[in-house]
Amino acid sequence: MHRVGVVTRSRRRRSPGDVRAELVVLANRLPVDRVVHADGSEDWRRSPGGLVSALAPVMAANRGAWIGWPGDVMEECEIFEHDGITLVPIGISQQEYEEYYEGFSNATLWPLYHDLVAKPEFHREWWDAYVAVNRRFAETAAEVAAEGATVWVQDYQLQLVPSLLRELRSDLRIGFFLHIPFPPAELFSQLPWRRELLEGLLGADLVGFQLSGAAQNFIRLVRQRVGHKTHRDTVYLPDGRTVVAKAFPISIDTAQFEKLAASPGVQARAKQIRDDLGNPRRIFLGIDRLDYTKGIYARMRAFSELIHDGHFSVEEATFVQVASPSRERVDQYRKLRDETDRLVGHINGDLGRIGRPAISYLNASFPQSEMAALFVACDIMVVTPFRDGMNLVAKEYVACRLHEDGALVLSEFAGAAEELRQAFLVNPYDINGMKAQMLAAYRADPKDLGRRMRAMRRTVAENDVANWANAFLTELTTPRPAHDKHLRPVKRA
Ligand code: F6P
Repeated sequence: MHRVGVVTRSRRRRSPGDVRAELVVLANRLPVDRVVHADGSEDWRRSPGGLVSALAPVMAANRGAWIGWPGDVMEECEIFEHDGITLVPIGISQQEYEEYYEGFSNATLWPLYHDLVAKPEFHREWWDAYVAVNRRFAETAAEVAAEGATVWVQDYQLQLVPSLLRELRSDLRIGFFLHIPFPPAELFSQLPWRRELLEGLLGADLVGFQLSGAAQNFIRLVRQRVGHKTHRDTVYLPDGRTVVAKAFPISIDTAQFEKLAASPGVQARAKQIRDDLGNPRRIFLGIDRLDYTKGIYARMRAFSELIHDGHFSVEEATFVQVASPSRERVDQYRKLRDETDRLVGHINGDLGRIGRPAISYLNASFPQSEMAALFVACDIMVVTPFRDGMNLVAKEYVACRLHEDGALVLSEFAGAAEELRQAFLVNPYDINGMKAQMLAAYRADPKDLGRRMRAMRRTVAENDVANWANAFLTELTTPRPAHDKHLRPVKRA
């Protein structure tokens, strides 16, 4: 981790109060990555990802501002413009990086919200840092937002922002969207600060989740742990305000992926990838952040056992696994990296031939064009998380299969499984079941694959990320009548 210099975009230093945005987005990260050119000059490039491309047009049209952390530990940073959006950097110290980001966000909330796939750690000083950083985001938003503006808070790192912001600015419409799963009451209740987090979210007018089950978990917890009256998707607060909690399944910029997949550069690269792999009959593909929720280890074992059991040889089938480095200083992630390295080494040592490894394992991040080339080149996409809010890689693969061929093997515990019903669905904890579905995908009749892929392509074409953003913002900005505040709250659990 290193401290970076500040890129100055305007002569006079702009303060948050100068911005006066009609639409404010808050996310842990700014939607740009810093690039350093050969001559040493620095610049910003828009980060890949659907969220920013969906929001960019509406933000440009609404004097939009995005508040976030620039991705390096940085205490002093200036407001700047990029692609028509005002970017307002939030500085965090090295200690806050360790306690708010690596600690409370990614070693407490992340495992807790993902079914305890790893054991969450509870530390009081991490909580204090989480509160402090959330407060900084809220205070900045309170300064940046114009009178009556719409504010949209993103994800688990910022769950206290809605209520902290409402205390400062009751004139705002505040929305919150959780990109990761929201756990059932039995798991969430372990959290020492469960009530504070629920109350943090209740500062919003609309709380969005990936799936309706998650919204129901939230409503039930609010009733049980905070004691507010609820009915279906609505929470009735004692002050007459209502909070709606419902599902808005996120998606991708489908047209952009289709365009990329059809481009001559990506098509040529896809052919080269197949050639480099020796043109086997089938290529399996996994693309994930190297995260213990993704089920990479179990998937590798399932694939290797299919070779070991003689269902196909390394000449007939190979696996390309991209595992992009993530949160590398957090203990559980370091351990996972070591275990995965060891397993892939064993598998290739046992089963590989000269020039024919069973698994091509790439511990690296790639640009979107290379990902698209992999989606085009590979026949069977394997997405087997133990728990995942949505999993956009599954949707990206489908968008890139322009010829309506290829198979998707998908965990039933990924949010995407609720929409992509025609995938080869698997329980990632059941290695034999996973082997059976991977083999079924390997042997599938092209007609069956075509039928499945056509249906899934229709789904991702009809529900893209722009529809998602519009649906959320329309619901958030549609006026709702206040309820009768004399309704008696239910007794606290
Ligand atoms: O899935 C949740 C999420 O925060 C994504 O928004 C993000 O792309 C990914 O995890 C990686 O997160 P980080 O910001 O910790 O690298």
